[in-house]
Amino acid sequence: MSEETYGMEKWRGKVALVTGASSGIGRAAATALVNHGMRVAIAARREERLDELKRELAASGADVLTLVADFMHEEQVLGVFDRVREVFGGVDVLINNAGLGHRATIADGDLREWRAELEVNVFAASVCMREAVRDMESRGGGQIINLSSIAGQRVPLGNNLTMYSASKHALHAVSTGLWGELAAKGSPIKIGLISPGPVETQWHEMAFKSEAQARALYQGGKPLSADDVVEAMRYMLSAPAHVQINEVTLRPVSQKN
Ligand SMILES: NC(=O)c1ccc[n+]([C@@H]2O[C@H](COP(=O)([O-])OP(=O)(O)OC[C@H]3O[C@@H](n4cnc5c(N)ncnc54)[C@H](OP(=O)(O)O)[C@@H]3O)[C@@H](O)[C@H]2O)c1
Repeated sequence: MSEETYGMEKWRGKVALVTGASSGIGRAAATALVNHGMRVAIAARREERLDELKRELAASGADVLTLVADFMHEEQVLGVFDRVREVFGGVDVLINNAGLGHRATIADGDLREWRAELEVNVFAASVCMREAVRDMESRGGGQIINLSSIAGQRVPLGNNLTMYSASKHALHAVSTGLWGELAAKGSPIKIGLISPGPVETQWHEMAFKSEAQARALYQGGKPLSADDVVEAMRYMLSAPAHVQINEVTLRPVSQKN
């Protein structure tokens, strides 16, 4: 009897949707999945960045679909899935990565910023999970990978990222709950959650609204790279059909909390 072993080959020719692919971890994930022979749909708001990535990937003959969408609006998220179904037939792998944070105290917090964190990091991510499961159920299986954070495991006191932390705790809860729903039905669909510490992307600059503060954060030691996080995705995706890797936590060795 032949047993499936670890490896990415099973995903060749299958369809991945990477949200938040215009920069950082999503961009690196889309590149890696194309290199593994997947057909990849890339979604985000910044069209010029998606086009630039598509040009770069298309040079090697890759089949890439760009989808401009603002995940603050459910109809735009649904539009992404409609288009992927139309062009590629549906989603086999969802890299549920689009996310943002705002650095501020709760005492001085701004409701619009809190809403944006919850809307994109929790509600849009949950809509993506729901839609991806619908596709995967009709395609005989699939893998969802949710991008959480160490801040989704504990509140990072002193960093003023409390509402961001609340959003990633919520994502953790939704991810675990969906896994339970699928497991109860005996579904082959897998749910994974990756929780990184600081990764060197534009994320901190956006969250702190300051390039200098973002750079200062990386001075205590070497941060994670987007490719380090992609390696954890590859580990999840490589698992044979009977193995589900639910959670991976990554910290830079220099991280002290
Ligand atoms: N960097 C870190 O230290 C770190 C650590 C732990 C977890 N994470 C998580 O990892 C994920 C990726 O972050 P990153 O570090 O790669 O940051 P990033 O470079 O800022 O990427 C964030 C992505 O999310 C997209 N996005 C944000 N708001 C959106 C919206 N309203 N609609 C559609 N797309 C939206 C952005 O695209 P557009 O702006 O073009 O829309 C961008 O492509 C996030 O969920 C983040 O919370 C990051």
